[in-house]
Amino acid sequence: MNLQVGAKLIGVGKAVPRSVVTNADLEGLVDTSDEWITTRTGIRQRHVVSEGETATGLAIEAAKDAIGFAALDPAKIDLIIVATSTPDNLYPSTACMVQAAIGAKQAAAFDMEAACTGIIYALAVGQQFIGSGTFKTVLMIGVDVHSRFLNWEDRNTCILFGDGAGAFIMQASQKENENDMLATYLRADGSGGHLLCIPNSGVHYPHVGTTPEKATHRFLQMNGRAVYEFAINAVPDAVKTACARAGIEVKDIDFLVPHQANQRIIKAAAERLGFSPKQIVSNLDQYGNTSAASIPLAMADALMRKQIIPPAVCVLVGFGGGLTWGSAIIRWTAFDQRQITQENQNKEKTIGSTI
Ligand code: ACO
Repeated sequence: MNLQVGAKLIGVGKAVPRSVVTNADLEGLVDTSDEWITTRTGIRQRHVVSEGETATGLAIEAAKDAIGFAALDPAKIDLIIVATSTPDNLYPSTACMVQAAIGAKQAAAFDMEAACTGIIYALAVGQQFIGSGTFKTVLMIGVDVHSRFLNWEDRNTCILFGDGAGAFIMQASQKENENDMLATYLRADGSGGHLLCIPNSGVHYPHVGTTPEKATHRFLQMNGRAVYEFAINAVPDAVKTACARAGIEVKDIDFLVPHQANQRIIKAAAERLGFSPKQIVSNLDQYGNTSAASIPLAMADALMRKQIIPPAVCVLVGFGGGLTWGSAIIRWTAFDQRQITQENQNKEKTIGSTI
C-alpha cells in the first residue's frame, strides 16, 4: 500500500447497555436451553438495550472511553466514522450526534455500513485518510443494537445477538517510517446477501398501510449453517491474505482478535491457522454477537485483563452480512493513559507517606 504517512492506534473503548439477558432468561421465551446455547455458540449472556438506551448513546459512551484511554483532547479529532447497521435514524447520522456530544468541533463525520465487518472497513478508511495526509486523528466506532430487529420468538436467531459499541482512535505517526497498521484486506460477496439479512428495514418497507404479515418481515433472518460455512473459510482467507500483504507469516502474529459470532467458528478457524488457545481473544460468553462493535469490545477487554500486553501484533478479523469479510494486521503499542496516571498518583502517595 503506497501511503505517505504511517498510522498508530492510540485508543480503544467500549460500552454496553445496563440490562443483561442470560441463557436462563431465554429459556422462558423460546424452546431452548442454557446447555444448547453454551455448547453450540459459547454465549452465556448478552446485554440488551432498555427504554431510553440508544445506538447513539452507546456510541458516545464508547467514544468517551477511547478518548479517556488515549488521554486525547476531543477538539483534536479530524474525522469520526461510525460503522453501524442499526442507526437510531437515517439522519442525522450517528457520527454527527457523537461529534456534537463529545465536543469534536473540528471533526467531519459520517456513518457507513458493512454489517459485522463494519469496524474493519472503518479502520481501512481511517488509515487511507491518515496515510494520504488529509487527517491526523480519526475516531472509528462500531455500534449495533440488533435486539430491536430480532424476532424474540425465533430460537434460531434471538439467542445469538447482543447490543454494544466499541471504538478505536487512530493517529498519524510523528516518527518517520513508523506505521502500526501493517495491512488491511476488505472483501464482499453480494451474491450471498440473502443468507443474513434484515429485509424491508429500509425504504422498501411500506410504513403506511402495512399489514401485520408484512411487518414481521422486519426481523433479522439467517441461514445459520451457510453463514457458519462461509465464516470458517472467510477467517483463514482474511488472515492469510493480510499476512501476505504485510510481508509476515501467521506465526509472527501474537493474537487473533476475531469477530465474536460463535465460539465454534472462532475455534475452527483458529485451529486451521495454527493459533493456540491463549492467542485467541474471546469475550463472546459475556456479550454474544455485538456485530460491528465486537472487535473493539474484545480488544478493550483483552487489554484490560492483560491477555494482550503491548507491544503485540494482532490480526483483527471481521465477517458478516453483505456478505462481507476482512482483516487488519496491527501492532498494538498503546497503554491506557488513565491507568498510567493512576499508577503515578499511587507512586507519589507511597513516596509521600515514606518521607
Ligand atoms: N435452542 C435449541 N435448539 C435449537 C436452537 C436453540 N436456540 N436453535 C436451533 N435449534 C435446533 C434446530 O431447530 C435444529 O433442530 P432440528 O434438528 O430438530 O431441526 C437443531 O437445533 C440443529 O440446528 P442447526 O441449525 O443445524 O444447529 P447448528 O449446530 O448449525 O447451530 C447456529 C446453529 C448456532 C446458528 C450455527 O449454525 C451458527 O452459529 N451459525 C453462524 C451464525 C452466525 O454466526 N451468524 C452471525 C455471523 S455474521 C454476523 O455477525 C452478522
